[in-house]
Amino acid sequence: MQNMELKAETIRVVGPCDTWAFPLKMKERHPLEYVRQFPHLRCRNNTLSSLLRVRSEATAAIHSFFKESGYVHIHTPIITSNDCEGAGELFQIETLNEAKEPAEKNHFFDVPAFLTVSGQLHLEVMAGAFTHVFTFGPTFRAENSQSRRHLAEFYMVEAELSFTESLQDIMQVMEDLFKTATSTVLSKCPHDVELFHKYIAPAQKGRLEQMLKKRFVTITYSEAVEILKQASQAFTFKPEWGCDLQTEHEKYLVKHCGEVPLFVINYPYDLKPFYMRDNEDGPQHTVAAVDLLVPGIGELCGGSLREERLPFIESRLQRLGLADAYQWYLDLRKFGSVPHGGFGMGFERYLQYILGVDNIKDVIPFPRFSHSCLL
Ligand code: 4AD
Ligand code: MG
Repeated sequence: MQNMELKAETIRVVGPCDTWAFPLKMKERHPLEYVRQFPHLRCRNNTLSSLLRVRSEATAAIHSFFKESGYVHIHTPIITSNDCEGAGELFQIETLNEAKEPAEKNHFFDVPAFLTVSGQLHLEVMAGAFTHVFTFGPTFRAENSQSRRHLAEFYMVEAELSFTESLQDIMQVMEDLFKTATSTVLSKCPHDVELFHKYIAPAQKGRLEQMLKKRFVTITYSEAVEILKQASQAFTFKPEWGCDLQTEHEKYLVKHCGEVPLFVINYPYDLKPFYMRDNEDGPQHTVAAVDLLVPGIGELCGGSLREERLPFIESRLQRLGLADAYQWYLDLRKFGSVPHGGFGMGFERYLQYILGVDNIKDVIPFPRFSHSCLL
């Protein structure tokens, strides 16, 4: 509804536009899949321009949350020689000449280099100098996935905290970050958020308001597996202790716990990357890991306590054949190691969740995913 009309005396056309040929019609509410075909024009459409303003406010809200909590912002590198997650989802970098003449073994950097999958290891370096640090930048995963929650290039918010001995401390920061940033976004751009809550995801507003009032729920991975085993629902992947939780499992767990954000803690040792802290339990051996699962999306954040004890991390790296490559990481444990931990939150999944957007490709200006890199 408009509350004002403009009566023009003269009109000057600055840049002509053939409205018949222009693919976005003024009075039409085009489906998001339709406007996705025009990455060079879709920001002129109401929905995408609202999204981009929310994205900008959310970025600022996340920065101010960390700034006000005393964190130092670190620009972690985009090009790295590490594989932080060890999941083999790396994009390798080569110069045009190296690509043309693969026989030539001279790497530009002398060593193989990749686009970063996480700034965590660089943040751990910095957490040895500053108590609390964070980074917020582009992150790359070569997952061959066309799913509605995976991109090849996405933004990740990551925090690392020194002198942290309990997973609860990390989870508290995740919850505070989520609630503070979301309340700020809701108050700074109510009209832009309302457009989504009115036309794209009508039930989302009430759910979000409820979520902001309630405490997030926590269960252990072992409890999660028991809940899944007792479910009347038939899963494609049979829930079994030691196996990764699948999206269908995550959805069921969130529903079972009342459609509120849910922390799942203490995952099997063998499922998780080398840096996670050994819980020294058994016979079901776990690490101090945490995933935050949210309704409609599944995993929003992943984090852990880090293994700060030299003998533990040294023997784990040795078993994985990584001890030589990670000498510098062992140095961090040799020269004044302190208990520490941190987490990463997928920024696009965060936007999807608060706005109720089904497909991750609609919350980033220029989506990159397997088989698509437009513009
Ligand atoms: O769980 P992940 O892999 O955790 C890490 O990379 C840790 N090193 C972070 C840390 O502790 N500093 O990724 C963190 C989050 C996921 O929970 C998910 O929200 C998002 O990043 N994410 C993706 N978002 C979009 N597309 C993808 N392909 C994503 N992969 C992970
Ligand atoms: Mg994860």
